[in-house]
Amino acid sequence: MKKAEYDSGQVYWEAPSNIALVKYWGKKSTQIPCNPSISFSLSSSKTRTSLKWRKRDHGGKDFSFDFFFEDKKNQTFEKKIQTFLERIEPNFSFLRDYHLEFYSSNTFPHSVGIASSASSMASIALCLCSMAEAIGEVNLEKKFFQEASSIARLGSGSACRSLYGGAVSWGEHSWCQRELGSDLYATPFSGLHPKFKGLLDFILLVDSSPKKVSSTAGHSLMNDHPFLDSRISQANHNMEGILKALDKGDWMSFQHIVENEALTLHSLMMSSSTPFILMKPQSLILIEKIREFRKKSGAKCCFTLDAGPNLHLLCLQDDEALVRRFIKEDLEEFLENKKWIADRMGFDGPKGGYL
Ligand code: DP6
Repeated sequence: MKKAEYDSGQVYWEAPSNIALVKYWGKKSTQIPCNPSISFSLSSSKTRTSLKWRKRDHGGKDFSFDFFFEDKKNQTFEKKIQTFLERIEPNFSFLRDYHLEFYSSNTFPHSVGIASSASSMASIALCLCSMAEAIGEVNLEKKFFQEASSIARLGSGSACRSLYGGAVSWGEHSWCQRELGSDLYATPFSGLHPKFKGLLDFILLVDSSPKKVSSTAGHSLMNDHPFLDSRISQANHNMEGILKALDKGDWMSFQHIVENEALTLHSLMMSSSTPFILMKPQSLILIEKIREFRKKSGAKCCFTLDAGPNLHLLCLQDDEALVRRFIKEDLEEFLENKKWIADRMGFDGPKGGYL
């Protein structure tokens, strides 16, 4: 990238959303996960952010920034940015010397069950890293994406995995001494079997109303959770299993682990000291229907859920036509406004440049 030589400049980055297969749930300390996780990045669902910076005449005490989401000032997100800037200031000490203007937009519609905090925070972190390079504060070179992942994690844990395409892991783990994970940044998984490269994700919309419980509040309920220790060992076990399955192209193990993780996430929420249920009756109907369909048709498909009621129906490319017909004929009537979105594993990773 060309360096901006002035006290002002503008950069943009586009980062993909991701969906976790082994779930990050619970924090050991600030933005350090209790367990390793792995997700895959989506191909079409992305956030694009541009950042304009301008040197302030008198560097102030407070951060000076505006955040616009789809051209409107967004105060909820501004609060998140404030916390984020406070967390990254030890790395980026120049932040108070500049006025920052963020303009962000998603390629996917609002509230459709696609987590936007991961792609937003990843694109914001990338913009700030590019700015730091442009004003000559850091020289990240080959470590650019690793540093951006570490910065993104401080905004939202799952965001650190949106720094790469394909399957991406985060958190300490070891498997056959081949992939050593870090709690500080995500690592792209290099051993993906060709079978999984065509993984499709049909996002089935059950309820688009805003979340009752934020992920951040959900994570904190793991601190005194009676099943914390067993959850950590289960996640490590599932991590090892899924890495092997992804490497060998073993669909049956993949399916088993992915569904086990989704249902565990929701069981953990239901059994925490402040219990909450995020699934809706339709979520359960869809799960039943998917299992029946798979038994009858032999299609390679399975489901996962985030911390919400909407389902992600995953399937391999060979079964695409069969699964699309199944959604149209058997599932649409249970979806909010019959709405679903077709996406797939994306390999491009983030894209950006100076404006
Ligand atoms: C259920 O990354 O949104 O989607 O770090 O507090 O911002 P914070 O949490 P967040 O948690 C995501 C949890 C999850 C599982 C996952 O993506 O691994």
